[in-house]
Amino acid sequence: MDPARKVPQEKVDRIVEAARLAPTSSGLQPFEIVVVTDPEVRERIKAIAWNQGQVTDSSHLLVFAAWDDYTAERINAMFDLTNEVRGIRNEGWENYRAMLLGSYPQRGSEVNFAHAARQAYIGLGAALIAAAYEEVDSVPMEGFDPAALDEILGLRARGLRSAAILPLGYRDAGGDWLVNLEKVRRPRGQFVSEV
Ligand SMILES: Cc1cc2nc3c(=O)[nH]c(=O)nc-3n(C[C@H](O)[C@H](O)[C@H](O)COP(=O)(O)O)c2cc1C
Repeated sequence: MDPARKVPQEKVDRIVEAARLAPTSSGLQPFEIVVVTDPEVRERIKAIAWNQGQVTDSSHLLVFAAWDDYTAERINAMFDLTNEVRGIRNEGWENYRAMLLGSYPQRGSEVNFAHAARQAYIGLGAALIAAAYEEVDSVPMEGFDPAALDEILGLRARGLRSAAILPLGYRDAGGDWLVNLEKVRRPRGQFVSEV
């Protein structure tokens, strides 16, 4: 990416908004986004991300951080928010709340984090597409040490764990050997089957 080019704030806002509006299982929205612009913090992140240049050459680094667990408090907060925003109470919805309260918190934090991280990836997908729409270049990334990133950003203290990161910026077309190469995907016949 070209470190001299900065993504305008309104574009970043719309990309983040796409992730905020993404659907999630039961509408629990079990992830947050940390927008990292501080150059010193991004240097530290680069060191634990295989020294990948886009971490510091991008203008904004989005960190998708999933809940470390589903607790009764978190589930209730989201159901209460729904009731507050909609101004109604619905028996079916309350039964559904009780069902989740009776199952999710007991499943164990690793199962719950894995589930929450899958929801974070739906947000990641939405942000990727929004970035393309905004003509902003981005790279979905798993190539980093999640425990080290959690430490750098203090995520565990907030009940969060990093799942994926997304640098936003503008490609350095002159220095990018991939930019003019064909996109490679398996043909549709090897990817889709119909029953
Ligand atoms: C979940 C995920 C993690 C990825 N991690 C990295 C990464 O750490 N570094 C990187 O340069 N690309 C990463 N990529 C990008 C893929 O390598 C890339 O999308 C793939 O090679 C296909 O290339 P294309 O999207 O340019 O067609 C990742 C993609 C996804 C979806």
